[in-house]
Amino acid sequence: MCGSGCPGGWLRPHIGPVPTRRTTLHLRLCCDMGRLDGKVAVTTAAAQGIGRATTETFAREGARVIATDINYEKLKELEGVPGIEIRKLDVTDNEAIKALAAEIGHIDILFNCAGFVFHGTILETAEKDFDFVMNVNVKSMFNMIKAFLPKMMEKKSGSIVNMASIVSSIKGTVNRCIYGTSKAAVIGMTKSVACDFIKDGIRCNSITPGTIDTPSLRQRMAASGDEEKSLKFFLSRQPSGRLGTAQEVANIALFLASDEASFVTGAEYRVDGGWGI
Ligand SMILES: NC(=O)c1ccc[n+]([C@@H]2O[C@H](COP(=O)([O-])OP(=O)(O)OC[C@H]3O[C@@H](n4cnc5c(N)ncnc54)[C@H](O)[C@@H]3O)[C@@H](O)[C@H]2O)c1
Repeated sequence: MCGSGCPGGWLRPHIGPVPTRRTTLHLRLCCDMGRLDGKVAVTTAAAQGIGRATTETFAREGARVIATDINYEKLKELEGVPGIEIRKLDVTDNEAIKALAAEIGHIDILFNCAGFVFHGTILETAEKDFDFVMNVNVKSMFNMIKAFLPKMMEKKSGSIVNMASIVSSIKGTVNRCIYGTSKAAVIGMTKSVACDFIKDGIRCNSITPGTIDTPSLRQRMAASGDEEKSLKFFLSRQPSGRLGTAQEVANIALFLASDEASFVTGAEYRVDGGWGI
């Protein structure tokens, strides 16, 4: 805490006494203000990977974050982190989504991150797989937005950030038929919401990551039977020569969620190490 009672740390040394009439200016000049101060965020898939990095980043930047995941045991690792409240939520359960929305008062930021990577060509994808993936990756976001958007409209402001992928309408890759289809749908839905609610002060954007080093990616590499070969394959797709980090995606989510992106809507933000060039 600084000598004038500011909650943050010093960004620069004081020069002379601080005028008490100009407390706000003083706070801006001397203290470490968060980029999401005063905002309320709901995040999905917050227990690990990109969702977790984003949840922690939002909280560090001053937001009150309601962090949700189907895996409550894992989510509990966030218990006690300043700014974070945890709630179990299966994003395929629309009644649970509605109940959460009813419980939470106002919301400024909705980060729809939950998604499932299904491997296979169209011939290897059964109808039930199609339904499962579209349910987790697309219908969940449809229901989340329907539940939380009216709360944003009440205040005529809000930012929705949807997790898509470079594997979508942007780029095809082998063995990701239904995954790419679902993420293309996320981009389409994002643009639709952006168009329909821009006059209500709502922004809606998507993020399209390349290959990001997360627990599920590691699990998929291990499940392939030859982790080293699998890693080589993933790296071969990345002109950057490396995998991305969850924090690198969280940085984009933070920008889109914040007022710094006040003129950005309907966009898909690539964070892909050049894969989509
Ligand atoms: N990792 C990548 O390379 C990559 C690339 C592009 C896009 N994405 C997308 O980013 C998002 C997160 O990916 P990740 O690799 O960080 O995730 P991950 O697989 O490591 O973690 C996913 C989290 O989602 C939770 N989850 C799964 N089903 C759920 C459900 N029905 N309801 C609520 N939570 C559920 C899991 O418990 C887990 O905590 C996904 O939408 C994914 O498609 C990831």
